[in-house]
Amino acid sequence: MRSASAIRIGMDLAVAARSIEARLAELSAVGQGSDGGVTRLAYTSLEREAHELFASWAGVDGVSCEVDAAGNSVATYRAGTPYLLVGSHLDTVIDGGRYDGAAGVIGALESARAIAETAPLGVRVVAFAGEEGARFGRPNLGSALAAGLIDADAFGRLRDVNGTTLAAASAAVGLDPLATPVWLGPDVACFFEIHIEQGRQLEVGAARIGLVDAIAGSVRLSFEIRGRADHSGATPMRGRYDALAAASELVLAVETAGRRYRSTVATVGRMEIAPNNVTTVPGQTTLWVDIRDVDAELQRVCARTILERAGEIGERRGVTIVGEVISEQAPVVLEAWPRALAHAECEGRGLAHRVLPSGAGHDAAIVARRAPSAMMFVPCVEGISHSPREQASPQDIALAADLAGTVMLQASALLHPNDG
Ligand code: GLV
Ligand code: MN
Ligand code: MN
Repeated sequence: MRSASAIRIGMDLAVAARSIEARLAELSAVGQGSDGGVTRLAYTSLEREAHELFASWAGVDGVSCEVDAAGNSVATYRAGTPYLLVGSHLDTVIDGGRYDGAAGVIGALESARAIAETAPLGVRVVAFAGEEGARFGRPNLGSALAAGLIDADAFGRLRDVNGTTLAAASAAVGLDPLATPVWLGPDVACFFEIHIEQGRQLEVGAARIGLVDAIAGSVRLSFEIRGRADHSGATPMRGRYDALAAASELVLAVETAGRRYRSTVATVGRMEIAPNNVTTVPGQTTLWVDIRDVDAELQRVCARTILERAGEIGERRGVTIVGEVISEQAPVVLEAWPRALAHAECEGRGLAHRVLPSGAGHDAAIVARRAPSAMMFVPCVEGISHSPREQASPQDIALAADLAGTVMLQASALLHPNDG
């Protein structure tokens, strides 16, 4: 067995960075809006177009790609099981950036190509479908389906804001997610995901690589508030049942609950008002809350507090508030050994790095329930993400791809010790 630290893959970083930059630009054209933002929502034809582009890139390497019933694309760079899996997702939020998910998929193609000839284990690249919870409220749909972590009941309840069910949306793009075989399991020797940090710790610490030790969980709540639509001129202030005023109190209660503990964050990112008319007291509002924490208990406490506060607000204001838990995902601690390999590699190269938790959710958190998983972050400018202003350097992504490929090869030497 070769010593893990002696393994190098010799990627030409300048060539890789140029390829990554060109592909990021090509992919960003799929779903690009006039402000430069990208909208490629889960289970839309635009998301499928991105997956077709991914398959064409694998094709350039002479590699064929399979798409499972959930819409996850897998390109087999080296046949065999168990295999190393590397990748991320291709969908975006509404008006998102060009790096979230895309950087990890495009970087993964570089890592896989660099090690395909020499890896003693199989090597596959995955582009997961439906990672963002932006459309259906529930994140990580593709990976959760492939991991057997979503049941038919939960699946059946998911609808987008237009009332389109996930089943109907996926059928419209030729997919049948509930027919997905569970393929994330013991065949996956280790999963690697490269991703932009979406925070500022790397930038502030002048680090080029982040090694993720834990991924925050999330609880998503929806609230439907029903008051009474009334004439805004003729209805006295005391006789109103204003659904938007109640929602506003709830928004502030969410902010207060999110501030209570250091690791918790809580956001109302979406709200709908009906009838949304300047001369009508709002009769109905719907709002969605996203709570995240690396501490499962605090995440639950925050959700409970918000649900209780909603009850009090509704009672005091005489409006009906119905709260529902749309999705709940526990925080995940990632496997130590792949991170230790990456850590030793960073130290050996004198590469400025940081070990840090992820506040954002990732497919790695799902795969980690089935197979050892590791995440590497690259810095993003000012930590801005889920925004057209999202920006990261192709050189940093190439560096992460080189590191991931190297660590993948080191991992295969460890997992397949008879080689070499
Ligand atoms: C995924 O980007 C998330 O919302 O955490
Ligand atoms: Mn995202
Ligand atoms: Mn992402």
